[in-house]
Amino acid sequence: MTTSAQSAPGLPLDMIIFGGMGDLAVRKLLPALYMAHLHGNLPPGTRIVSTGRQEFDRAAYLAFVEEKSRPFIADANFADEAWRGFLQLLEFVRVDVQQDDLAALAAASRAGAERVFYLATAPSLFTTICDKLAAAGLVDRHARVVLEKPLGRDLASAVEINEAVGRHFAESQIYRIDHYLGKETVQNLMVLRFGNSILEPLWRAPNISSVQITVAEEVGVGSRAGFYDSAGAMRDMVQNHLLQLLCIVAMEPPTSLAPDAVRDEKLKVLRSLRRFNLATIARDTVRGQYTRGVSGNQEVQGYLEEPNVPAGSATETFVALRAFIDTWRWSKVPFYLRTGKRMGRRSSKIVIEFANPPFSLFPEYQHGGAANRLVIELQPEEAIKLQLMAKEPGSGMHMQQVALNLDLQSAFSQRRAEAYERLLIDVVRGRLTHFMRRDELEAAWEWADPIIDGWSTLAEQPRPYAAGTWGPPESFALLARDGASWVE
Ligand code: BG6
Repeated sequence: MTTSAQSAPGLPLDMIIFGGMGDLAVRKLLPALYMAHLHGNLPPGTRIVSTGRQEFDRAAYLAFVEEKSRPFIADANFADEAWRGFLQLLEFVRVDVQQDDLAALAAASRAGAERVFYLATAPSLFTTICDKLAAAGLVDRHARVVLEKPLGRDLASAVEINEAVGRHFAESQIYRIDHYLGKETVQNLMVLRFGNSILEPLWRAPNISSVQITVAEEVGVGSRAGFYDSAGAMRDMVQNHLLQLLCIVAMEPPTSLAPDAVRDEKLKVLRSLRRFNLATIARDTVRGQYTRGVSGNQEVQGYLEEPNVPAGSATETFVALRAFIDTWRWSKVPFYLRTGKRMGRRSSKIVIEFANPPFSLFPEYQHGGAANRLVIELQPEEAIKLQLMAKEPGSGMHMQQVALNLDLQSAFSQRRAEAYERLLIDVVRGRLTHFMRRDELEAAWEWADPIIDGWSTLAEQPRPYAAGTWGPPESFALLARDGASWVE
């Protein structure tokens, strides 16, 4: 049983960021911490201590943050006084974690402070950092550690990281981030499912005929090929973000929102995912790679032409697959998952297709696909649409699909915090519910590993798709075989 590490009221907080000069810290973490500060969500006396290898003094670091992080704060959220107040919280400690011990960090750390260590570095440094933190006497029972993905590249490496971190931190002190779990829309999925009673009786086979989960990105690999080429879309997106979405759609109602109550249910889903074998990999999965095309009205290059992509790379930038969850609730219901870079546009959505009426009173009406669909749009817009059949005005009984449309943007005027801001506040307050537990992470790899290995055994080459399209034709064929089609 994991209960959150107690955040001790009254203790000052030291948030220590390893990789404090890296992309993630600069673009996401510091702006998110600024927003938390702006809205009074950091405890009084908080300090943010960034570490890095550069020979910076504090003034140079502040200038760096001003230059690099400030542009990632929307003008509407920028308040000069709050920003200056935020900079006051920042410290910089020069550390080369591979070479040095952490004496300098220990010296800068306040005795009796509650410490949060954010490891925004390559995972290959996690073990070293945790060992050195412990050796410097910085890990006590109030300490928390936040681990960024990728958490391993397969089950074996994930276990290794978990073991290494687990030598010094109890599970209740470990926050494994999947930023999708911090998105407002994803958290709202839990409310949609478990805050309403009308959906639950329908939320199962045979009432649901299929589920689609799409996370389409418009961006390409950008400058991240160094990391991305050795990962690919399966490790970068499916093993974590898409599986977490699938878990929330498919899980049984938890008994409470306590971290273990929720994570136990997600774990059951992951363990019930049907394992792939070579035959089902060949039949039910599609890998793709973008080629030159037009995206956002601009001509863009193909993956192989992007900077730092090795010649002839066979890394996938797109995955589509058909998965099954072998439980009573989901027996025989296909879950179609799809994600890719450089697709038609940025669009993440979940589509629940309900079974058609068993007998049609309106035989002249031929429509493709399901009569009723629940479409949950996660980004960029947040909306929930329930498609129903309605009579077309006029003589005869002609039907058409119409949507009951809930626009959450206009339903709520409140500000929507970014995922990182929300998750960082959870860490500060010691709330673990929206973080992955060790067994969940490992179960996700147990499912993903055979697919990745199978692709290599089968020497599966990624299928080309032009940038700006919805993936290779094989992805459409995957659904067409079942008489289904992707909902764009
Ligand atoms: C990250 C992946 O985890 O998620 C990136 O590493 C991807 O490749 C990003 O672009 C997508 O996140 P979002 O919030 O933009 O949907």
